[in-house]
Formats: sequence, structure tokens, C-alpha cells
Amino acid sequence: MQDRRLPRGRPKPYSTMMVLLTTIFITIAFIGLYEAQQWAWQQHLVSADDNSNRQPSASDDPQPRQRELAPVAAAPEPPVSVHKTDEPTTSCLPVAVPKRMSLEEKEAIADAFMSVVSTREAFPLLLNYLGMYRIGTGGEIGVYNGEFSDRLLRLSSPKRYHMIEPKAKRFFEVRRELLQGERSFDISWHRNYSQEAASLFDDGYFDFLYVDGSHSHDDVLRDLHLYYPKMRKGAILAGHDFCGKRSKQLVNVGGKKRKIPWCGEYDTLHQDLTRKHATGGRQKRSMSGCAKAVLSFFHGLNITVHFTREDRPALDPLSQDPHSPIPHLNPSWWCLVR
Ligand SMILES: C[S@@+](CC[C@H](N)C(=O)[O-])C[C@H]1O[C@@H](n2cnc3c(N)ncnc32)[C@H](O)[C@@H]1O
Repeated sequence: MQDRRLPRGRPKPYSTMMVLLTTIFITIAFIGLYEAQQWAWQQHLVSADDNSNRQPSASDDPQPRQRELAPVAAAPEPPVSVHKTDEPTTSCLPVAVPKRMSLEEKEAIADAFMSVVSTREAFPLLLNYLGMYRIGTGGEIGVYNGEFSDRLLRLSSPKRYHMIEPKAKRFFEVRRELLQGERSFDISWHRNYSQEAASLFDDGYFDFLYVDGSHSHDDVLRDLHLYYPKMRKGAILAGHDFCGKRSKQLVNVGGKKRKIPWCGEYDTLHQDLTRKHATGGRQKRSMSGCAKAVLSFFHGLNITVHFTREDRPALDPLSQDPHSPIPHLNPSWWCLVR
């Protein structure tokens, strides 16, 4: 008789088959369960989304979350110590400053603001911050390709902006058209020298003016004499290039030495883009004549001159860390008109 038993230790063929089938069955069952769960989760998300989009109906629980959670007394509103400012237009900061401020308060606030965001890019923000986002009339002496005006006009909302520039620049034209096309304010372009354009403006006309035309000592002094009376009381008068070479950082004002910031060095970008004669690493052209004119003019009026650091790394704007990168842009000066 044939022994149908298999050798010991070897599984029977039908039991191997059973194990295989069971494994396949369990795997399929798991996959099915997983898919079903995923599908149910998707449905839940879709219906939650639908609910969030639909209008609430009368039968809806008006405050379901309050019901679920133990009711907590609402925290009292903190006392408001500042007045609301006028309706903001463009990018004004989410802060309010007193509507009526003395010039001293205004200057202290402006100074604090500019010591944090100390670049000329912050001028439009400063105007917004001071509640001057609708600066009635702004202007710029020396516009070149419109880089600064572009920035100012994108971040503040003057009713009118005067650009005083004797020479047409291609980029400037393009920018002017773009800006004028986008915004509702008036841009007036005066293809003229500042000394000739001055007679076009009444006294107390400007709320903001940026002086960046000719930078010689006498020309800056002339622009200040001509345009200071054109400024409204409490307006911001500002200008570019308030700095000197290392050897010209001390300027004589009213019989005293005043220290001005260092202009820095030309970088290779500067060399490539603007000045063929300027080699990277060489000290930038001194603007001490410009700075001295500004300091002398305002010294006579007993007005404080502030200036930007343009992200110069040292906290003290007058002390430069020789190992830190030097910013490309020269500092700007600014003051509050009295
Ligand atoms: C340094 S660029 C101005 C740059 C511009 N403010 C900016 O930051 O984007 C100087 C400009 O002043 C102009 N300029 C020179 N003398 C001037 C004057 N007396 N009145 C007005 N503009 C003058 C020059 O034609 C030049 O385009």
C-alpha cells in the first residue's frame, strides 16, 4: 500500500494554499478598510467646507463654540490713549499717532521711527506714520531716473508731486508714465533747474520735499534758501548725500566741529553700473560740502538735522565697523520745518 504521508516537517500542499489565500484575503480586507476610511474622511472635509461657505440659516446654532466651551468673560478693551487718525489710503502702518501734536512731539516720534527704519525708503512710511499719508504736495529736486520718486509715490499718496529735473532720462519717462497710469494723483514734471522753478511755488506750499539736485556746498545752500520758505510748518524737508570721506567727516559749523557719517566705498556693482572711474574698494566721492551746507543752514534756524543710516551696521551712525559690509546708498538728511 502506498504511503500517502509526506516526509515529516514539510507542510501539506493544501495547508500552504490556505495560508496563502488567508494572507491575500486579509491584505485585501485591510486595503479595502483603509480606502473606505479615506473616502469617509474626504466626504467629511467636503461637507465641512460646504458648511463654512454657506450662509447661516435660522436653525443654525448661532454660537456653537461658546456652547461647547465654558463661557469666559470677554477681556475689557484696553484704554485708548491715542486719537484715531484720518482714513488711511495706501500702506499706512497699523498704528495711530495723536492727531494734534506739538512740533516737538512730532519730531520725537519721527526721530524714534527713523532710528528703527533708518533708510530713505522709510520717508513715505514716516509720512504715513505721522498722519500725513495724504501729503497734500510733495516734491523732489533732482530726479534722475525717478528711483526715489517711484518709491515715494508707491508708498504714500500725495495729491500732487512735483519733479524738478532739467535733464530728461529714459527710465524716468517710463516710470513717470507707469506711475501716472496707476494712480490718481497729479505728477508735475518741471524740466527745469531748481533755482528757476522756485518762483512757481507759493510760500508754505510743500508738505514734503527731497533735495537731491546739484550737490556743491553753494548750490545746496541756494536750494535751501529758496525752498525752505516754500515749506509748510510741520512739513518734512529732506535731502540726499549727507556724508564725507574719512578725512572729511568733521565739518566746521558755527565755530564748532560737527561729525558727519562716512560715505563708504564704491563697490563693484557701483563701478559697473555708474562710474567707470570709480574702482571697487575706493572711498566714495565726498559729499561734505553738501552736508556742511545743510548743517550751517539749519544751525542758523536752530533746527535739528537728522540723518538716515541706510542700514549701516554700526548702531552708532558715526562709528563704522571696518569689517562690516558698507551700504551702497549714501545717508539722507531730514528735518521738521518750524
Ligand atoms: C543724484 S541725481 C538724483 C537722484 C534721485 N533723486 C534719486 O534718488 O533717485 C541728481 C540729479 O539732479 C539733477 N540736477 C542737477 N542740478 C540740478 C538743479 N539745479 N536743479 C534740479 N536738478 C538738478 C541732475 O540732472 C541729476 O539728474
